[in-house]
Amino acid sequence: MELGVCYYPEHWPEQRWAEDARLMRETGLTRVRIGEFAWSRIEPEPGQFDWGWLDRAVDTLHAAGLGIIMGTPTATPPKWVVDRMPDMVALDRDGRPRGFGSRRHYCFSHAGYRAEAVRITRAVAERYGRHPGVVAWQTDNEYGCHDTVQSFSPAARDAFRQWLAARYGTVAALNAAWGNVFWSMEYRSFDAIELPNLTVTEANPAHWLAFRRFSSDQVIACNRAQVEVLRELSPGRDVTHNAMGFYTGYDHHDLAADLDVLGWDSYPLGFLEMFRFSDADKVRFARSGHPDIAAFHHDLYRGRAKSGRWSVLEQQPGPVNWARHNPAPLPGMVRLWTLEAMAHGAELVSYFRWRQFPQAQEQMHAGLLRPDATPAPALAEARAAADDIAALGEVGESVKQAALVFSYPAEWMTQIQPQGAGCSALWAAFHCYSALRRLGINVDVVHPDAPLDGYALVVVPCLPIVSDTLAANLTAFAGQVVIGPRTGSRDEDFAIPPHLAPGKLTELIGGRITLSESWRPGVVATGEGWQAGGWFDHYEGTAEPDMTAYDGRVTCWKHGRVRYAACWPEGSYIDEVIARTAHDAGFAVVPLPDHQRVRTTARYRFTFDYADATVTWEKRT
Ligand code: GAL
Repeated sequence: MELGVCYYPEHWPEQRWAEDARLMRETGLTRVRIGEFAWSRIEPEPGQFDWGWLDRAVDTLHAAGLGIIMGTPTATPPKWVVDRMPDMVALDRDGRPRGFGSRRHYCFSHAGYRAEAVRITRAVAERYGRHPGVVAWQTDNEYGCHDTVQSFSPAARDAFRQWLAARYGTVAALNAAWGNVFWSMEYRSFDAIELPNLTVTEANPAHWLAFRRFSSDQVIACNRAQVEVLRELSPGRDVTHNAMGFYTGYDHHDLAADLDVLGWDSYPLGFLEMFRFSDADKVRFARSGHPDIAAFHHDLYRGRAKSGRWSVLEQQPGPVNWARHNPAPLPGMVRLWTLEAMAHGAELVSYFRWRQFPQAQEQMHAGLLRPDATPAPALAEARAAADDIAALGEVGESVKQAALVFSYPAEWMTQIQPQGAGCSALWAAFHCYSALRRLGINVDVVHPDAPLDGYALVVVPCLPIVSDTLAANLTAFAGQVVIGPRTGSRDEDFAIPPHLAPGKLTELIGGRITLSESWRPGVVATGEGWQAGGWFDHYEGTAEPDMTAYDGRVTCWKHGRVRYAACWPEGSYIDEVIARTAHDAGFAVVPLPDHQRVRTTARYRFTFDYADATVTWEKRT
């Protein structure tokens, strides 16, 4: 695994660049990512390029022995681009323009913007595509950051109509697939269809699902347009993109199909603070991060990446600026996060950013250097991690144990129709992941159509649409299986299947779901050592009760090697379901301390401890 850093030469005097490059190398860094926000300096006036400074920056970094990951600057179109095409900005859900003055102010469907993005990508790739110092490209920056995948602009509406016509062929077919007879929502032509925002009450969930798919496809198409240019002008270099944490606005599996390496940006403390963790965990892990946050994404993105190649393109080095509260990591955490990425198979960890910038939006965001260029604490930790990596050598392949099935449309569907507040396919996956990991089990988060051979157990936490491939793979699979609530409960257009849930998996679980209810917090079914809630599927069939509450309600059914979890997969309930399944799959069920996780590769068994106090290890002989 290589180490790198995100660097913005345009922020610093040119006389400083060589010293920065030297210090990067001295720290053990071999990669540097540049350029992704530099459009206004590359092309200060329309059509007039200023390459001089970037040529010198590239040459300086290259001369120091750093491999450059060049970003395409399309996330930050300068003001003159917007002034020439004011309608290129996205409109938010309330129809308001997303103005200039930060970043990502473009609509993916705007043809003029898309042409500009391809033009600037071509210009940068023509200039540096064959430069010996450029080893890889990053397209744009964090598609979807600041909630920017969906746009409700006229350009998006027109493109959506075309997308619908291509998908459904006739408007009659669309009306039938969506059930538009309900509330007289039938359309007479594709041109009559609006975007699903601004309706009086909720729009048809089928309409929303189509719009989510369309919005995702627009991201993929914009990215592909850049990738094609980069392939043509920069042969032999990897193309990557940096995905985000707990972000599902587009289908990352589709994006990854066009990339060589899938990257993601790891901010463990920011994510803990901003996402759905208990206040107790937010306090307890405030300076280390929840022990599953980074690992979940490592395993998720490894599973989306073509050929399994993935990296951390941004790694939190200290306090960030964007969470509600922004503590500093405990001493040692930056090193730990780096090594954990290695244990999960990353090929690069790149710290964000080299030096804290004293101005503008991210002036409170730490770097490896302070604003005055003196070392921040993370610099020494990066150096220590570089030494650890060198000492460990090849860590070897990950050992296959559990597969966890996750799809982006599943999360879109639970967002569109939660039915119970907080019921989310993404968080169901996270809780199942966490339950498996607390038993020390390696988890691969896989696409629904991924082969399942070689795993001891498979968990499908919540997957409303089940493909024929998954149904066949699960039927052929010899290991233990857990199927979670809502799985198989919808078709491609959000309709309930003719013979009810779980549709294609009915035989697998030996029955069907006749009624689903959701429960508010506090409404629970309690059994021995576990408490279930959130959701309750009424099962009818030939499976045996596996977990029965004191009041007689069956919360988990067992049909041969398959369990059906009828309640929401969270807390002590899913821990129990997973523990039973792991036991049946032959694992020793000994929970780790809740601050500890392990990762087993062909050569090593790594232990990572997220405790906020020093832990002393005794070496056993
Ligand atoms: C990421 C983004 C970076 C920077 C960073 C701050 O989301 O890609 O450009 O803003 O966050 O933590």
